[in-house]
Amino acid sequence: MAVASPVAANISFRLNGETVHAPSAPSHTTLLDYLRARGLTGAKEGCAEGECGACTVVMVRPGEAGSVYKPVNSCLVFLAQAAGHEVLTVEALAHDGELHPVQRAMASGGGSQCGYCTPGFVMSLFAEHYRPGRNGACETAAMAGNLCRCTGYRPIRDAALSLGPASADDFRARLARPAPTLDEFACNGFARPASLSECLGLLAADPGARIVAGATDLAVDTNLKGVRFRRLISVEAVPELRGFDDAAAHVDIGAALSLDEIASRWTAAPTFFHEWLELFASPPIRNRATLGGNLATASPIGDAAPMLLALDAEIRIAGTASIRGVPLHAFFTGYRKTALQPGEVIHSIRIPKPLPERVRFYKVAKRRLDDISSVAACFALDFERASRVAKARFAYGGVAATPIRATTAEDAVAGFPWDAAAAERAQAAVARALSPIGDHRASAAYRLAMAQSLIGKFHEETPR
Ligand SMILES: Cc1cc2nc3c(=O)[nH]c(=O)nc-3n(C[C@H](O)[C@H](O)[C@H](O)COP(=O)(O)OP(=O)(O)OC[C@H]3O[C@@H](n4cnc5c(N)ncnc54)[C@H](O)[C@@H]3O)c2cc1C
Ligand code: FES
Ligand code: FES
Repeated sequence: MAVASPVAANISFRLNGETVHAPSAPSHTTLLDYLRARGLTGAKEGCAEGECGACTVVMVRPGEAGSVYKPVNSCLVFLAQAAGHEVLTVEALAHDGELHPVQRAMASGGGSQCGYCTPGFVMSLFAEHYRPGRNGACETAAMAGNLCRCTGYRPIRDAALSLGPASADDFRARLARPAPTLDEFACNGFARPASLSECLGLLAADPGARIVAGATDLAVDTNLKGVRFRRLISVEAVPELRGFDDAAAHVDIGAALSLDEIASRWTAAPTFFHEWLELFASPPIRNRATLGGNLATASPIGDAAPMLLALDAEIRIAGTASIRGVPLHAFFTGYRKTALQPGEVIHSIRIPKPLPERVRFYKVAKRRLDDISSVAACFALDFERASRVAKARFAYGGVAATPIRATTAEDAVAGFPWDAAAAERAQAAVARALSPIGDHRASAAYRLAMAQSLIGKFHEETPR
């Protein structure tokens, strides 16, 4: 298979209904940078780290039938990643001086004061307004990734709730047609291969190159920490990394699927998965962030690891010779270190079946939604006859240098009834086994107290 070469090429994509050819730019240039330099200044830079939503635009992505509008943070999309995509900004909405119904609802409902956040809110609400299958009012959670510092959220919420069904306009008509398919693409400092062998070939040829998936971590590094990548290799168009298989013996989730795509493909996903998903960042982040990216960062406070550790997941790693499986607990080898070898990529995440009988995910953070965990925990129990615990898995993030299983706590409940005494034994084991580190998010003592009290909460919520 031919390996895409790093050539200077225009970055072509559909923008507000026309094809644009952006000149090749340094790989850290964001879509937001490009839009604003082009005079499309509706999208604003507030935080440059995916927190405020002022930069929200929508991408046209594949839907169940045709397409769907998905809000994304343009500050976290590298310009080269936009190649081949279809993007709408707030400037596309009004026609002949007539506001779009979403804009009218925000304006007439008093949903905007200084207006800095407004284009971002409008684009999130625009995507929700046209969400295929929406029967009732717009879901206000669709704007969970947008912050407003001056209007107050009630008029914004009321504006959203005032919107009726989307009218039969050009925007709705667009959704009947397929979304663009992403092809192989390369420009200076960036390559997007369209097969796994090509991706691995690129990595082998340039070991210093960095994989990029959704860029929701990497673009924060480039925007705020001044990190520069000589070459990025995108996995967004590698079909082998975008598979999904809900089979009899396991669920296989492609490493390069966005969290939102996983949710739409895993139609039989258990309740705890949806609870976990809702607590993971915001809709625009979930539309881009991948499981592969979350695990590869090996962040001790990443939210995927505790859940997947409690499910006994295996990481499937692709190298030029083969695909190898590594149990997730062996994947994290140290603070922000993994078992990935040079030239390897995460292929998929395999969750064995049957899933545990009782699973709950808990996240302790300063805000309930759209915040990084101070402590995250996922607990899973299987039972044998007489209500004894057959198998327990207690997994944590935020209490050690890596996400971990508290195996002594698991041993303290296995073989016993799941009663208050068992929960107390597990709490005592956690106190002995864990020695968290304190930081600006939470002190060590607080993290340990949370790790213990979440077991009590789990017991209260899963009586047997
Ligand atoms: C506002 C905001 C809120 C967030 N909230 C949360 C949250 O609630 N919980 C949470 O856990 N995280 C959160 N994050 C962090 C981030 O969104 C996640 O870690 C996300 O899953 C990263 O995925 P990505 O595809 O964007 O990774 P990228 O940024 O593309 O890549 C991250 C790292 O993974 C590597 N990588 C990516 N894919 C692969 C692969 N297939 N094989 C090998 N290496 C790979 C890259 O080289 C890079 O080192 C948040 C981030 C932001 C900006
Ligand atoms: S500028 Fe704040 S989310 Fe992009
Ligand atoms: S209207 Fe001023 S920040 Fe929202």
